[in-house]
Amino acid sequence: MKRIVSLKLNGRPVEDIIPDNLLLLDYLRERQALTSVKKGCDSGECGACTVLIDGRPRLACITLAASCENSEIETVDAQAKNGVLSPLQRAFHENLGTQCGFCTPGMIMAAEGLLRDNPNPDETEIKTALGGNLCRCTGYVKIIKSVQIAAAESRQ
Ligand code: FES
Ligand code: FES
Repeated sequence: MKRIVSLKLNGRPVEDIIPDNLLLLDYLRERQALTSVKKGCDSGECGACTVLIDGRPRLACITLAASCENSEIETVDAQAKNGVLSPLQRAFHENLGTQCGFCTPGMIMAAEGLLRDNPNPDETEIKTALGGNLCRCTGYVKIIKSVQIAAAESRQ
């Protein structure tokens, strides 16, 4: 079965005909060319595919695109505004929160969801919010520091 889905994607209205069983991850990568949304485990375990749905971090690999009818989806592509990196993007870049970068879009979107709810998280709250996001390159010290620095900058 196919259906028409209407949603807002990175601030723009989108309408598309999709199969009922199309995963949001595949919809974003293959139909919308948003390859920033990474396909890691493809089974809800690594966090690489994290996007915001109505402001909340969600795993696109275990979400049906059809379930996003009338929702607002944000990917890391919506972070920079007019070519200026967001505080999270800049902090990850400047504080070596990124190595190969594969986990970074998911990390940033998970952190973005946290900071919208809690602009002043402590270290435990950051670790909890990023607990479902795995990085195969590094320890997590610089990632957590990047989120702390971005949070401090956003509060100024
Ligand atoms: S690709 Fe979705 S959680 Fe790993
Ligand atoms: S920076 Fe390579 S997986 Fe995290």
